[in-house]
Amino acid sequence: MSKIENKDENGSMDGAGEGTGGDPKDDKGLGLGVIFFLVAFLVCFLSGWLLFPKLLYSKREQPFNFDHVLHTQEAGDCETCHFLREDGTFSGMPNLESCMECHTDEPMGETEDEAIFASEYVAKEKEVPWFVYSKQPDCVFFSHAAHINAAGMDCKSCHGPIGESTTSKPYEENRITGYSRDIWGQNIWGIKKHSWDRMKMDDCAACHKEETGHQGYCFQCHK
Ligand code: HEC
Ligand code: HEC
Ligand code: HEC
Ligand code: HEC
Ligand code: HEC
Repeated sequence: MSKIENKDENGSMDGAGEGTGGDPKDDKGLGLGVIFFLVAFLVCFLSGWLLFPKLLYSKREQPFNFDHVLHTQEAGDCETCHFLREDGTFSGMPNLESCMECHTDEPMGETEDEAIFASEYVAKEKEVPWFVYSKQPDCVFFSHAAHINAAGMDCKSCHGPIGESTTSKPYEENRITGYSRDIWGQNIWGIKKHSWDRMKMDDCAACHKEETGHQGYCFQCHK
């Protein structure tokens, strides 16, 4: 049976496969080859989608943990620490001086985080080098006033639930571009579940188009 088939095959190939065709070992070889290919494909695929993002981003912890829930209660509201100045600029991260309205170099509580804060920063009068999750590249101009006042947006729609957290999440930096992961997205598949999952140029422009009918000119966001 197989002999006839081989004859046909070899015949049509002008005898090019002479001596190699028809060996039952070859079928097995092909089967193994397919399995090998599938396994290799799976390994590459999984490392690409699962491992690569892990390698691509380096995680760094904030200097010490900051509890937003506790502090919003103590301070009364978000604006005590993050506010728009008279001239419309945004205060951003609170400085050490504003923390020292309540904190001295003597910790009030027992936590290790407060002890680090008191001894390493308050006592030494050193500003805390916070990582900014939403940090855009220098070429991008962003105005909080336009979004908070003019557009009436809340913090969460861009930053997510940071203000409702009791722990500071690690800062993840893209090793190639230096971008924060909050800009290029938590989800490697590009799926966006929340408005704050990503803050790339297209995401800014998409909302501008929706809200103002125009995605904006380059010079609005690039100076
Ligand atoms: C309105 C007063 C107030 C201000 C302003 C304030 N804190 Fe606190 N902070 C507190 C109180 C009260 C506690 C609770 C102390 C305790 O554990 O009993 C606390 C606790 C802490 C802790 C330890 C909390 C924990 O759970 O680990 C850290 C760290 C800390 N503050 C850092 C800061 C920093 C940094 C700033 C400035 C950006 C700041 N605080 C501004 C009142 C304040
Ligand atoms: C006592 C001062 C204080 C108060 C009150 C406070 N924050 Fe903060 N906020 C901080 C400090 C310090 C950081 C930096 C540490 C961190 O990221 O956890 C921070 C970081 C943030 C960030 C991260 C920005 C970025 O891109 O890295 C957001 C968003 C934020 N705060 C929102 C809020 C909101 C919303 C509220 C009110 C519910 C609030 N904060 C109340 C002190 C404060
Ligand atoms: C339209 C989206 C948007 C909204 C709404 C918004 N932010 Fe931001 N925020 C950003 C972007 C983008 C940056 C980074 C700006 C940059 O790097 O130039 C940022 C940066 C910050 C920072 C870090 C500033 C620094 O020192 O570098 C803090 C703190 C912050 N925002 C808090 C808030 C708070 C509190 C609110 C609500 C009152 C708020 N944001 C509302 C998009 C937004
Ligand atoms: C969820 C919606 C939304 C997102 C996301 C958003 N914006 Fe906006 N932005 C607005 C709206 C609405 C206005 C118009 C406010 C007004 O009426 O002046 C605006 C205004 C602006 C302005 C002022 C334009 C001008 O000509 O005065 C700048 C600059 C800007 N956005 C930059 C950005 C950047 C950069 C990002 C991304 C990091 C961003 N925005 C993300 C809604 C958004
Ligand atoms: C709505 C605001 C907005 C508008 C309008 C806009 N950009 Fe951007 N652009 C951004 C933001 C935010 C980033 C950084 C995040 C990213 O790379 O997606 C960026 C990044 C870029 C970069 C990459 C810079 C880098 O260092 O990675 C280039 C190039 C660029 N923009 C060109 C343009 C050009 C050309 C236009 C006009 C056709 C334009 N942009 C209009 C917000 C905007």
